[in-house]
Amino acid sequence: MNKSFYIATMGCQMNEYDSEFLAQQLMEYGYAPADDPESADIVLINTCTVREKADQKAMSLLGRLTRIKAKKGADMVLGVAGCLAQKQGQRLFDRFPQLDLIMGPRELTKIREILDPVLFQQRKMLATRLDLPPLNASKTHQIQKGQVCAYVSIMQGCDNFCTYCIVPYVRGREISRPPGDILQEARLLVDQGVKEITLLGQNVNSYFWEGPGNSYTFPSLLEMLGHIPGLLRLRFTTSHPKDLSDNLIRCFQDMEVLCPHLHLPFQAGSNSVLERMKRGYTREHYLDLVDKLRDAVPHIAITSDVMVGFPGESHADFEQTLDLMKKIRFDALFSFKYSDREGTVAAQLHEKVGEKEKRDRLKVLQSLQKEITLQKNKTLEGKRVAVLVEGQSKKGAQLMGRTATNKIVNFPRDKGNMGDIVNVVVKTAFINSLKAE
Ligand code: SAH
Ligand code: SF4
Ligand code: F3S
Repeated sequence: MNKSFYIATMGCQMNEYDSEFLAQQLMEYGYAPADDPESADIVLINTCTVREKADQKAMSLLGRLTRIKAKKGADMVLGVAGCLAQKQGQRLFDRFPQLDLIMGPRELTKIREILDPVLFQQRKMLATRLDLPPLNASKTHQIQKGQVCAYVSIMQGCDNFCTYCIVPYVRGREISRPPGDILQEARLLVDQGVKEITLLGQNVNSYFWEGPGNSYTFPSLLEMLGHIPGLLRLRFTTSHPKDLSDNLIRCFQDMEVLCPHLHLPFQAGSNSVLERMKRGYTREHYLDLVDKLRDAVPHIAITSDVMVGFPGESHADFEQTLDLMKKIRFDALFSFKYSDREGTVAAQLHEKVGEKEKRDRLKVLQSLQKEITLQKNKTLEGKRVAVLVEGQSKKGAQLMGRTATNKIVNFPRDKGNMGDIVNVVVKTAFINSLKAE
């Protein structure tokens, strides 16, 4: 019988992309996807370590899987990939002796070289180099049947070293993929039926590639990809405010295929906190950017990330965050409690904010944002919106798609086919979705 594999994925979209890459590699190797870890011969967990919660989630899943492995013994290969694997390295072997392999995010291209000694010589493998070239799926990226939206990574790593963040330590230095590879991968996806592509990177604005005789910045990369016939929508994430150029703002004006949505994490509304985070911009600069974006494209949706309880964040600082939220009125906001990450600068700072205080601040912040999101969504009631049909609604009875501004819309099945852009009228707005007819 065919050997099978199972991959559990945690963390960001980059990890989802990496897991797809891993799955592809394993399929080429002759393995078939399994429905659950119990029945799989190879089980990999692609982990995240961006916050303490992510660590806890990964550790508890690891605990569960090592118990399955204990029952199945040599019949099952168990590995940890991704950012937590990179951070913990050997320490994971010490804690979970049942593990067969540990592999950082930059090592995924080497999956077969890492897997072979495990499979054929029963060796344990630890692979955590960070100096490897970025993944290249330009010839191999296959989609699932009926898949309408897909990711394409355009760069790996990060050089920003925001003082709270572990990512630069676990994903290594920033490196941009050659534009030719990106174009080839995007075309390969569109040829298979993909209609919407989201370009991925920790800081896509700083994309830069230089070859003999030409060079590419992020706007010039977008421009090139915008011409792919059959591609209906182009998105990207994440943008860093300090590198958002006027040229990029112009792309939103000039390129019809580029969706009017920007995810632009602000992290904090107080200048003294922003400075200690080493974000490289002020609240005034951020507000200015949003003004410019809205002047250029009035209907653009702006979403963001923010955290509460960075070391030394006073009540007045926190008020500044709420104030910025009220001024900008984000379409949606991802909010987190700051947590110490081993080895970062912020972990060494004194004046830690207490757990209860962080929880209280997060609650206040989230209820403010809920109100804003709902009010903004309500303005769409009775309006006609264009939706790209992506799949079934969560409950399965309806179709689901998103507006160009990235709002989820559920609507009756007879309104269109998968991969079409359909016009529907919004009937009821909720916080996380819209219901249309
Ligand atoms: N590259 C992106 C985000 C990467 S991590 C950017 O620069 O915006 C995703 C989000 O996790 C961050 O935007 C931040 O809000 C949050 N985050 C990162 N480190 C964190 C920490 N130590 N504690 C709490 N939240 C954190
Ligand atoms: Fe982390 Fe900052 Fe890099 Fe984003 S830009 S990944 S927050 S170091
Ligand atoms: Fe997590 Fe690594 Fe992404 S730490 S957020 S999986 S880059």
